[in-house]
Amino acid sequence: MNSILKHGNIIFLHTSTIKGKNECKLKIAVINLTTTTKKLSTVIHILFFRKGKSYQSSSPSAKAVLSSPSGSSVPRGALDTIGLLMKLGRVRNIVVVAGAGISTASGIPDFRTPGTGLYANLAKYDIPYPEAIFNIDYFSDNPHPFFSLAKELFPGHHCPNYVHYFIRMLHQKGLLLRMYTQNIDGLEKLCGIPDDKLVEAHGSFATAACHLCYTPYPAEEAKQAIMNGNVPICTFCAGAVKPNVVFFGEDLPEKYFQHAEDFPKADLLMIMGTSLKIEPFASLVNTVKSTVPRLLLNRDPVGPFERRPLRRADYMELGDLSDSVRKLAEILGWHTEIQDLMNNYICWV
Ligand code: OAD
Repeated sequence: MNSILKHGNIIFLHTSTIKGKNECKLKIAVINLTTTTKKLSTVIHILFFRKGKSYQSSSPSAKAVLSSPSGSSVPRGALDTIGLLMKLGRVRNIVVVAGAGISTASGIPDFRTPGTGLYANLAKYDIPYPEAIFNIDYFSDNPHPFFSLAKELFPGHHCPNYVHYFIRMLHQKGLLLRMYTQNIDGLEKLCGIPDDKLVEAHGSFATAACHLCYTPYPAEEAKQAIMNGNVPICTFCAGAVKPNVVFFGEDLPEKYFQHAEDFPKADLLMIMGTSLKIEPFASLVNTVKSTVPRLLLNRDPVGPFERRPLRRADYMELGDLSDSVRKLAEILGWHTEIQDLMNNYICWV
């Protein structure tokens, strides 16, 4: 810290560049305004990191927690603030909203990361545009590209990673109201998040049905047919059977609509590893009360976190998700417990 300038009721606190583990550049500016009749505390907290960025807006609840009895405010990063709210018991109903980014550490590519994302690597399927592979009308005409890809996508080749176990730990601690995932890799269930805590908004490979008449079809038989390069055929209408993953143009599962009850009850929203590009899922994040803290853990700002200034109760930690989640687990004192959970779990792949 190279300067603290105090001028009447206004305090400017300015730190010079701090180089840490990740060669981070850190600048903090704090302005405290105190009036004689009413105490106002404004925290402007800007952190610039070369690798990993933390942004915090000042939510009323966080301000209350972070203010000392004397009324002075302490600037903290997004993870510190959320960790503190959790440790103080201010958070009991967490809703997690997740996407493909939570599974990249398990070796599963996401969809839209340039170069490595699934949509950048579909040339061999000769499809008109990348998302056609998950389009129900395209599938109706030509199911073969999806079935070729499905051989790779079927669960069974990958294990849950630290991020999944962190979410499981939220459940174990009694803090998880619900997890809404767009992922179809099944890793949430595999790490032990129970069915009643999980909404697989884009479906899963666990069941299968005819894409025309929706007659259920034995999932294992569908899988065997697909693995053998065949198209499973509906015994009722002779339409192509597909695993119940939700395609563009299809309805979301009934369970998804539970969100109308869950989101108003949330007292913390954690958004992890999603580009928030696909509706209606993306708009879920806007359905918590405006005073409810929303924490984005992602490589880049997405959805409402792209706008400046951030909403008052918004926090984001940019960088690798596993690193951010681990930092939060350490703040909460959960890291060893999560590691034990992972060590005790045998993933047979
Ligand atoms: P995307 O690929 O669109 O977004 C993944 C997000 O996670 C991106 O913002 C990445 O930068 C981020 N990310 C990836 N790996 C990360 C890491 N290790 N650490 C931090 N951030 C990381 O995936 P989704 O948002 O899940 O739908 O995509 C939504 C839907 O689009 C999918 O469910 C699928 C797809 O079309 C259907 O197929 C119906």
